[in-house]
Amino acid sequence: MQVVLDYLKHNQPRFVAELCELLRFPSVSAQPQHKKDLRNCAEWLVKHCRQIGLEAKICPTAGHPIVLAKTPREKKTRKPHYMVYGHYDVQPPEPLDLWHTPPFEPRIEGRSLFARGSTDNKGQFFAHLAAVEAYLQTGTPLPCDLTFVIEGEEEVGSANLAKFLKSHRNELKCDAVVVSDTGIPDADHPALTYALRGIIAFEITLRGPSRDLHSGIFGGAVDNPAMALSQLLGKLRDKNGRIAIPGFYDDVAPLTTYERKEFARLPTNDAELQKLLGVKRLFGERGFTPTEQRSARPTFEINGLTSGYQGQGSKTIVPAWARTKITCRLVPDQNPARIRKAVCNHLKKICPPSVRLEIEAGHGAEAYLVSPTSAHAQAALRALRQAFGREPVLMREGGSIPIVNDFKKVLGADTLLLGLGLPEDNAHSPNEKFDLDCFENGQRMSALLWRELLH
Ligand code: BES
Ligand code: ZN
Repeated sequence: MQVVLDYLKHNQPRFVAELCELLRFPSVSAQPQHKKDLRNCAEWLVKHCRQIGLEAKICPTAGHPIVLAKTPREKKTRKPHYMVYGHYDVQPPEPLDLWHTPPFEPRIEGRSLFARGSTDNKGQFFAHLAAVEAYLQTGTPLPCDLTFVIEGEEEVGSANLAKFLKSHRNELKCDAVVVSDTGIPDADHPALTYALRGIIAFEITLRGPSRDLHSGIFGGAVDNPAMALSQLLGKLRDKNGRIAIPGFYDDVAPLTTYERKEFARLPTNDAELQKLLGVKRLFGERGFTPTEQRSARPTFEINGLTSGYQGQGSKTIVPAWARTKITCRLVPDQNPARIRKAVCNHLKKICPPSVRLEIEAGHGAEAYLVSPTSAHAQAALRALRQAFGREPVLMREGGSIPIVNDFKKVLGADTLLLGLGLPEDNAHSPNEKFDLDCFENGQRMSALLWRELLH
C-alpha cells in the first residue's frame, strides 16, 4: 500500500496539470452550442483512462456521451465489483463578468484551483482516477474490479444515463457505487453523506397580450403578466417561510430527535454562513435550523425570472409574457409526481383569469437516504479517517444527484457519497474552485477505500 501512497505523493504536480487540461473543455451540458466540447471532453477522458491502464470507451447516447472505463479483469477470479460515478459536464459559467479570470482557463492561487467544473465535478472524480492509476502503474494488485461511469448530463437531470443503466444492467451490476460529488463542512472534517434531497423542475409562463404593448396607450386596461406572475409567486410562501401549497408537506418524513442532535454537532456556524453567502441575514422555514433547512426540509425556489425589456435605458411596454424557472427540493418520503401535481393544481386554482397559464415539466427525482451504519459505510469512514487524519462526520446534504436512485433500483447497489467540496468552493457560482489539499486527500481516500471495503 505504501508504494501506492508514495506514487500519489510524488505525482501531485502532474495530476494537477492533467486536471487543468480537463478543465479547459467548456463542457456546459445545458447549452446546445457546447455539444462538440462535451464530445471532445469525453474523448480526452477516454484517452487519459487508457493511458493510465484502464480499458475505456465512449458510449454514445441520445444526448451527451458516457465514458465507460474498467480495470483490466482477471479471467478466473471473481472479485468484488465497485462502480465509481462522476460527471464531466458543468453548469453554465454565466454571469461571466463576475469571474476574476476566465472560467475555462484554470488558474492556481495558493492551494485553490479556479475553473468552472473544478469542484463540481471534474476535480472530484479525477481524484479517483489518480488513485486507480497509482495501483495500475505500480503493479499493486487491486482487491476489487472497478468500473468508472463518467457521464455528461448530470447537470441537466441524467435522463440518458438511466436508460444506459437498464441496457447495461449485467455489465454494471456491482456491490456498491462510490460518488465524490458532494461536500464536507470544512477542511478539518471529512464526511460521509447519507442523504440527498430530490428535485422537481418546471417552467411557468404567463401570457398576456399577443405582443408587447405601449404601456401609455393600453396600460391599465390589460393585466401585466410580470405583475400577475409576481403576485402568483408571492402567494406561494408564507411569512414563516413555509411553502403555501396544499399537500406540499403531507409526506415529509419528520426529523428524529437523534438526527437533530447530530445536526447540531456539525461544525457549521450560522454567523460564518451568513458572511460567506453575503446575505443581510439568514432566512428559512421557522422552527428549523439553517442546517436542517438546507438539507432535510423541502423548498420551492425561483431559479430564474424573466419578462419585458432587459436592455439599457427604459422602454414603456406592457410585456406580452412573463416566465419563471422553478425547482423544488424534495426530502424523504415526498413523491416527485405527487408534488408536481400539487404544485400544478394549486397554480391553476390561483391563476387570475386575465392571463393564460402554461406549465412545462422538467426533470425530477426523489430524495436519497442510505444507512450510515452499513459495513460499506464503516469502511468508508475508516478510509476517510486515514486519508484526512481527522475524525469524519456523518451528514445529510441539500443538493441532488438524481441517478443514485437508479443505481439502487436498476443495479441494486447503495451509493457511498464521499464528497471533497468545501462550502466556499462556489459550485454553480462565479469563481468556482477546488482545494488542492482536498484533491490530494481524496486520492488517498480512494486508494485506501478499495482495501477497507473488503474488511
Ligand atoms: N454536485 C452536485 C450535487 C450536490 C452538491 C449534492 C452539493 C450535495 C451537495 C451536482 O452536480 C448538482 O448540482 N446536481 C444538480 C442536479 C439537478 C440539475 C438535477 C442539483 O443539485 O441542482
Ligand atoms: Zn452541480
